[in-house]
Amino acid sequence: MVVAVDVGYGYVKAAGAEGRRVSWPTTLRRRAPGGGYAALGQAAGRRVRVQRPGAEPAEYQAGEAGRRAWAADAADRAGYDVQVLAAAAALGAAGDTDVLLGLPLALWVQQPQRRALRDALEGIEATVAVNGGPEARISIRSVRVLPQGAGAFQWALRQDPSLARRPVGLIDVGYRTTDYLVMRRVATGLAPDEASCGSADLGAGQVYERVRAALSEEAAVLVPEGAVEDAIGNYGGQMFLRGREVDAGAQVEDATRTLAAEVTEEIRRAWGDRLPLLGAVLLSGGGGEAVAPFLRDLHPLARPMPDALWANALGFLAMAGATVQG
Ligand SMILES: Nc1ncnc2c1ncn2[C@@H]1O[C@H](COP(=O)(O)OP(=O)(O)OP(=O)(O)O)[C@@H](O)[C@H]1O
Ligand SMILES: [Mg+2]
Repeated sequence: MVVAVDVGYGYVKAAGAEGRRVSWPTTLRRRAPGGGYAALGQAAGRRVRVQRPGAEPAEYQAGEAGRRAWAADAADRAGYDVQVLAAAAALGAAGDTDVLLGLPLALWVQQPQRRALRDALEGIEATVAVNGGPEARISIRSVRVLPQGAGAFQWALRQDPSLARRPVGLIDVGYRTTDYLVMRRVATGLAPDEASCGSADLGAGQVYERVRAALSEEAAVLVPEGAVEDAIGNYGGQMFLRGREVDAGAQVEDATRTLAAEVTEEIRRAWGDRLPLLGAVLLSGGGGEAVAPFLRDLHPLARPMPDALWANALGFLAMAGATVQG
C-alpha cells in the first residue's frame, strides 16, 4: 500500500487508498504500557502501540494538545518514525508499505536532508496498533521524499487543469514554515521558477504563540503551550485565566492579520515584479486557509485551494501515480 504522510510541524496529515485520511497534532508522549486514564473518557489524540523485532513494545499517546518537536532537520525530529507508523496503521496499511513524505522546500533542495530522512525510515519493521485496533505488521519498503508546496501544486492542477496554462503562485502556510513557489510553462512542460521558490519561518504556530504571550502577560499567569489552540479547537475560543473568562478568538484573529501581513511582505519580496503577472495565487496548508481572507492586498486572485489542509499529502499521492480521491 502507498501512504502519503505529511508530518507537519503542527499537524500530521496522512492520506492513503480509497480516499482515507487521518490527522492529529504532531505531538507524542511515551506512556506506560497498558496504563493511562483513557477509560475515564475519550482520550485526546491516538494511542499507539509499536512493537519492533527484538524490542519491548512501546506505547505512545500521539496528538494531544501541547509542545511540538522543533528540530530543524526532519530526520532528527523526535518521534517522526512513530508518527509515520501510526499514520500508516490508521490508514489501514499492512505488510509492505511505500511511504511518501514531504520536506519544506528549503530543506528538500539539500540532498543530504532528503537522504537522511529516507535512511531514517526505510526498512523499519514494526507491529503497530492504533487505539487498541487490530495489530498491523508494517514493513516500510520504500520512502520517497517530496517537496512541500510542489505536492499542493500537483493537487490543485488535478482539480483545475487550466492552471497549466497560466503562471501560478503557490503559498503553503503551515504551522512553522511558509513554502512558496511559482510554476511556469516552459517548452518542455511545467517548471518551478527557481528564483521565486523558498521557505520562510512564518506559520500559524506564531499566531498561537503571540496570543499565548499576550494573555500570559495580561493575566500574569503562564499560559501553557497548546492552551490557546485547545481553546480555539474545543471551547469556541473561550478560556479561563485565574477565574476570569477571556475570548481568545478575537486575539487569534488579530494575530492572524499580523501573520497575513508578514506573509504578504515575504511574498512581495520573493516574487517582486513577477507577482502582478500571476494568473492564480493558491493558498494551501491550515495556515493558508486562515490567512486567505486577509491577502486581498497581495493579489486579487489569492484564494485557498480545495482541500487546502490535505493538499500536500494528496499531491504526493498524485505525484507517485497513486489513485487519489479528493
Ligand atoms: N486536523 C486538524 N484539525 C484542526 N485544525 C487543523 C488540523 N490540521 C491543521 N489544522 C490547522 O492548520 C494549522 C496548521 O497548518 P498545517 O497543518 O498546514 O501546518 P503543518 O503542515 O503542520 O506545518 P508546517 O508546514 O510548518 O510543517 C493549525 O494551526 C490548525 O489551525
Ligand atoms: Mg505543512
